[in-house]
Amino acid sequence: MTAISAEDAAMALPGWPPDFAALYEALTGDFRGDVPMYLEMAKRHEGPILDLACGTGRVAIPLVEAGHSVVGIDFDAGMIDLATSKAKLLGLRRNISFIEANMIDFDLGRKFPLIMAGGNSLIHLLDFRLVLKAIERCREHLEDDGSFFLAFETSPYMAAAGKYRVERERPRQVFNRGTGQTLLYRGTITVDPNFQRIIRHHEFANPRAPHDPTKTAVFDYATRPIYPGELELMLDICGLKVVEIFGDYDLRPLTRQSEKLIMRSVKK
Ligand SMILES: C[S@@+](CC[C@H](N)C(=O)[O-])C[C@H]1O[C@@H](n2cnc3c(N)ncnc32)[C@H](O)[C@@H]1O
Repeated sequence: MTAISAEDAAMALPGWPPDFAALYEALTGDFRGDVPMYLEMAKRHEGPILDLACGTGRVAIPLVEAGHSVVGIDFDAGMIDLATSKAKLLGLRRNISFIEANMIDFDLGRKFPLIMAGGNSLIHLLDFRLVLKAIERCREHLEDDGSFFLAFETSPYMAAAGKYRVERERPRQVFNRGTGQTLLYRGTITVDPNFQRIIRHHEFANPRAPHDPTKTAVFDYATRPIYPGELELMLDICGLKVVEIFGDYDLRPLTRQSEKLIMRSVKK
């Protein structure tokens, strides 16, 4: 049997790990930093919003609370279940639906004036052909005068400057609402510019036994950062043109120092 190198193993990681929903919610569910930006975009467009790769409804739920109508799709059944139960718990029954679907081949049979691919969604597609498929699906679901809104956190690869490196995240406690447990979170981010990968490693340990592997849940997955010019090219290939580029969640223009890449595109 041929040995698999560490690089090959990293390249072979999935774009999203299974059974991660509850712990993903514990890790990111309370992040609100970008939510006002999506609310602002929603105000500029009349009608229902498609939230691509909606996760646990972190963005969809505040949009519905603000009076918008949202359809969220995600291919992870655990995410969809959690998003649905969060919405129910908040008494949100109208104007919200979460559907299990893959962003590379979904067909909802309707169009939207606003499609959002926020929270870095497209980086989970590990091959540019898959990104093209997802963009093509979004264009198909976009009304003729609609907007396709994309938001990325670019700092990990912007700071990479061509160097392979492993960064340790600040260990912190997170709360799993599903089980009522506080967990010790440790993670690393491996930046691999040559192969255009950022590999995420997450560990959720029992704080009373922080080094006991039997009490630690581990998730690894690879992402594929998308460079700005590449994104513009892919949008163009799919019949979309970029009309606005922003560099932060306050929708200020992109500058050399910006750590976010946010684009609004429309049909050509
Ligand atoms: C970083 S999370 C972002 C979730 C949400 N947009 C947010 O901002 O909180 C990425 C999400 O993409 C979903 N995902 C990954 N690949 C997908 C695919 N091919 N089709 C649909 N969803 C996908 C994952 O299940 C996960 O919920």
